[in-house]
Amino acid sequence: MLLEVRDLHVEFRTRDGVAKAVNGVNYSVDEGETLAVLGESGSGKSVTAQAVMGILDTPPGKITGGEILFRGKDLLKFKEDERRKVRGAEMAMIFQDALSSLNPVLSVGDQLGEMFIVHRGMSRKDARTKAVELMDRVRIPGAAQRVRDYPHQFSGGMRQRIMIAMALALEPALIIADEPTTALDVTVQAQVMDLLAELQRELHMGLILITHDLGVVADVADKIAVMYAGRIVESAPVHDIYKAPAHPYTRGLLDSIPRLDQKGQELYAIKGLPPNLMHIPPGCAFNPRCPMAQDVCRTDEPELYEVDQHRGSACHFWRECLNG
Ligand SMILES: Nc1ncnc2c1ncn2[C@@H]1O[C@H](COP(=O)(O)OP(=O)(O)OP(=O)(O)O)[C@@H](O)[C@H]1O
Ligand SMILES: [Mg+2]
Repeated sequence: MLLEVRDLHVEFRTRDGVAKAVNGVNYSVDEGETLAVLGESGSGKSVTAQAVMGILDTPPGKITGGEILFRGKDLLKFKEDERRKVRGAEMAMIFQDALSSLNPVLSVGDQLGEMFIVHRGMSRKDARTKAVELMDRVRIPGAAQRVRDYPHQFSGGMRQRIMIAMALALEPALIIADEPTTALDVTVQAQVMDLLAELQRELHMGLILITHDLGVVADVADKIAVMYAGRIVESAPVHDIYKAPAHPYTRGLLDSIPRLDQKGQELYAIKGLPPNLMHIPPGCAFNPRCPMAQDVCRTDEPELYEVDQHRGSACHFWRECLNG
């Protein structure tokens, strides 16, 4: 297995109290595989990714338990300089906001080239050649001319392609893309997503795709992990989930996707709000919002039950949910 996150716990210790942002997350992704991570705002998707990348804001963040195995080795036991080598060369992250992630005063060619100069000890000239190759690869028209341009001279979609190019530069085995297209226009979103999916296949990378967009997931992901209040509530191969969710929260997410055949109808929304992470309700964290909740849901925290060999659901009533 390329990456295996085991029982990860992350807290944020702030003046107001302790926010339990990640509460025992397990997920894995193999070479050439795409894992989509879904869940509402604040469910811990980014924090988990930051822990994997080793870029968690510490303090106030703190990893209080678990393992992050990369090719079988626990990254949490690495020293910072070993960790830095893994980052960039073996795993890279693509963020939502390209403009604030790119350096405004360096040409994109210099920024891309920097990766090769620093990590591969290349000459400035060779690094420039590599930069143009990368820009070609992410299909930036006229790469050889545009290599001298600055980030603000590119459109949002083109900037996001440059971010992808940066992430791919050292041909990492794992890419984590955190809402990579959220800031873009809808048509551009699809192009950037297609490009990312294509490069992922071509380079046989593992991809963790964090997204709100269940529509995108069906096309590109192999499997899905649904997060709620810092836990995985359902994990399954992508097609199983669309056929029949095994958790009421997943069902709620699916029912909130706009559908062409139901145009004009009011869109379903899961009622209520995600819990305050300083006061996660006892039992199942989703119980106050769950249409299927029974007494047991308010007292007993469900484990991730094995629905089948490839599938888990943290719902006491996963059978009922599966049967609609
Ligand atoms: N720097 C921080 N300081 C304090 N608390 C934080 C910090 N970063 C995250 N948190 C806490 O962790 C929770 C989970 O944050 P995270 O960014 O992982 O959410 P997310 O699932 O990525 O949401 P979104 O879809 O909005 O990006 C937040 O609700 C917040 O309580
Ligand atoms: Mg996030």
